[in-house]
Amino acid sequence: MGIAKNFLKKVKINMSELSTLLLEWFDLNKRGLPFRKNNKPYDVWVSEIMLQQTKVDTVIPYYNAWMKKFPNIESVSEASEESVLKSWEGLGYYSRSRNFHKAAKIIIKNFNSKIPESWDDFRLLPGVGDYTAGAVLSIAFNKSYVAVDGNVKRVMARLTSRKKLSQHNLRFIKSKLLKFMDKNRAGDFNQAMMELGACVCLPRNPKCEQCPINKICNAYISGKPTEYPAKVVKKTIPSHIFVGGLIRVGNKILIQKREEKMLNGLWEIPMKKINDQKNLTKDFKNFIFNKYGITVKINKVFSAIKHSYSHFNMKLIVIDCEKTTSIVKKKNMYSWIEKNQINNYPFHKVNHKVFSLFKKKTWNV
Ligand code: ADE
Repeated sequence: MGIAKNFLKKVKINMSELSTLLLEWFDLNKRGLPFRKNNKPYDVWVSEIMLQQTKVDTVIPYYNAWMKKFPNIESVSEASEESVLKSWEGLGYYSRSRNFHKAAKIIIKNFNSKIPESWDDFRLLPGVGDYTAGAVLSIAFNKSYVAVDGNVKRVMARLTSRKKLSQHNLRFIKSKLLKFMDKNRAGDFNQAMMELGACVCLPRNPKCEQCPINKICNAYISGKPTEYPAKVVKKTIPSHIFVGGLIRVGNKILIQKREEKMLNGLWEIPMKKINDQKNLTKDFKNFIFNKYGITVKINKVFSAIKHSYSHFNMKLIVIDCEKTTSIVKKKNMYSWIEKNQINNYPFHKVNHKVFSLFKKKTWNV
């Protein structure tokens, strides 16, 4: 009955056969993505950073807008951190853009404005890990390095019937990839692997019948492809309650630049984490006075706005209030802005939810 029962012996994967079948399939089926128009190192690098932890469909508009605003490494190195963050606003994992900004400055200063081709030089740049180095050096310079992202791990776990993605198995997967790779087309080989994972070898419903390498795939032959790799139980992320305020004076509101490590450099309305909601308005008033030297009159307390960040779920209770008095206070990075200045600052996501709530309700200019 079926292939599962007949599966007694693993198939031996023929290296050149795998590469040939995969690349033939890729040449015919690859998606026409904007970052595949050329293999220029800068263009490839931008796309590979954006594509980490982020889906292709989400990346495309950001990538296109970025390339218009920052067409080359010089333009990034000359930009302010604020302007770089603004272009990344909404994409998340902001350290990617901060690191890229730092790396661009290093390239101008230490590498004569040329993106380095050597592993050691490139890999040492801020924000560049094994994956980014492998992807950029193989795609832009055709160097024989592997690029193993989540999709490639799944394809390889199935191909070689490895259930656990342990360090040992990941080393095994990398060494196999390096052997399978067509060294004349290293970048295409890596992209073909990623493409197969993104379009065919899907996590839950793999389209095995369409797969160019199904006849040499051990998980397919076993009849139970989705058992590879074994599912890992995801850690649940904590939930935190915050109180924040739209503090108004005339038609302006108070905003604050974050200095904390998380979401560093992004702007927000004044907010703080709270443990309980017992003395919500009193705690909030004290917080605003201690931090900004401002006293406020509370107009209304809104129910919580929810937002999920990568590491926690946020419930933000928003208070609409007005400044009554202020004393001169230490130099926090804050600003009073009008509604039409929101677009000049990079904000993290929950703020835009607050702004749209208030634009509708009370923030009349
Ligand atoms: N994911 C990350 N980089 C990719 C690429 N170059 N092609 C397809 N998917 C990707």
